[in-house]
Amino acid sequence: MSWPIDRPRRVRDNQALREMVSETHLRAEDMIYPIFVVPGRHVKKPISSLPGQYHLSPDEAGLLALEFRRAGGRAMMLFGIPERKDETGSSGADPHGPVADSVKVIKDLAPDLAVITDVCLCEYTSHGHCGLVDGHRVLNDETLPHLAAQALAHVRAGADMVAPSDMMDGRVGAIRGLLDKSGYGHVPIMSYSAKYASAFYGPFRLAADSTPAFGDRRGYQMDPANRREALFEIDLDLAEGADIVMVKPAGPYLDVIREVRNHTPRPLAAYQVSGEYAMLKLAGDSGALDFKRAAMESLIGIKRAGADLILTYLAPEALSWL
Ligand code: PBG
Repeated sequence: MSWPIDRPRRVRDNQALREMVSETHLRAEDMIYPIFVVPGRHVKKPISSLPGQYHLSPDEAGLLALEFRRAGGRAMMLFGIPERKDETGSSGADPHGPVADSVKVIKDLAPDLAVITDVCLCEYTSHGHCGLVDGHRVLNDETLPHLAAQALAHVRAGADMVAPSDMMDGRVGAIRGLLDKSGYGHVPIMSYSAKYASAFYGPFRLAADSTPAFGDRRGYQMDPANRREALFEIDLDLAEGADIVMVKPAGPYLDVIREVRNHTPRPLAAYQVSGEYAMLKLAGDSGALDFKRAAMESLIGIKRAGADLILTYLAPEALSWL
């Protein structure tokens, strides 16, 4: 290979040529849209930490899902914010909680939209941790049945897939076991396998009122410095029965996404989290950068790193730009 025979600019000369040699594509089916559901009716309340996102009651979640589906959207992820929180996060398994109710409404209005539910205790516990606590210790094995019960409640309501985000050891196996035993052996699990203890969850925690009342999540979420450990987590979750694995956050962890992509043939998701979205939105609103171009570049970067699926609050906007 030598210049001037090899000239990379030849295939950049016009838009048609550029599109022909484009290596990475973002499709509607690649995006999963996370939303926040609350109890009540006719609630559509803007979330101040996440401009453009809302707290939605089940009826409003249904309308949004229908609109999203009509625009070509394929999948949504539901986060529940309950009326009451307690020590064990018991409302998480409520068959009439906001997640279960929203799943029913959405599946009714948009039956071919995939509805995935986040499974975790932090939105439901009074202390805001993702598991049961004993003093300041977050308990592992004691938490597992509670997560499994929550997953079962979501699946009974009609969820197409459950996504545990708590980072307790063994939770994929515990959820798989209960679903199988209960006649839901066909329902897949998307595991938040390599989930890092990240400052980029800040806007989400304000939205879900799930900031830990004491300590932090470093006793169960991963150290941002660790890459090899991500493969360890992925292997464990796959061995326990995970169908799709996830890396979270996405943008600051593109190397981890690529590492996992090269490590397993299984479907890989990446979560562009609330802080990544808020940075783009706020920088765009201030005029510091071109929001649309920066947003699309962030999504293409995550796909190029190796993600098959992207959980992103940008999903509706990105759909309108495709
Ligand atoms: C925990 C959970 C969190 C997010 C998804 N699931 C927050 C946390 O671990 O503190 C973050 C998502 C985001 O920031 O967009 N159940």
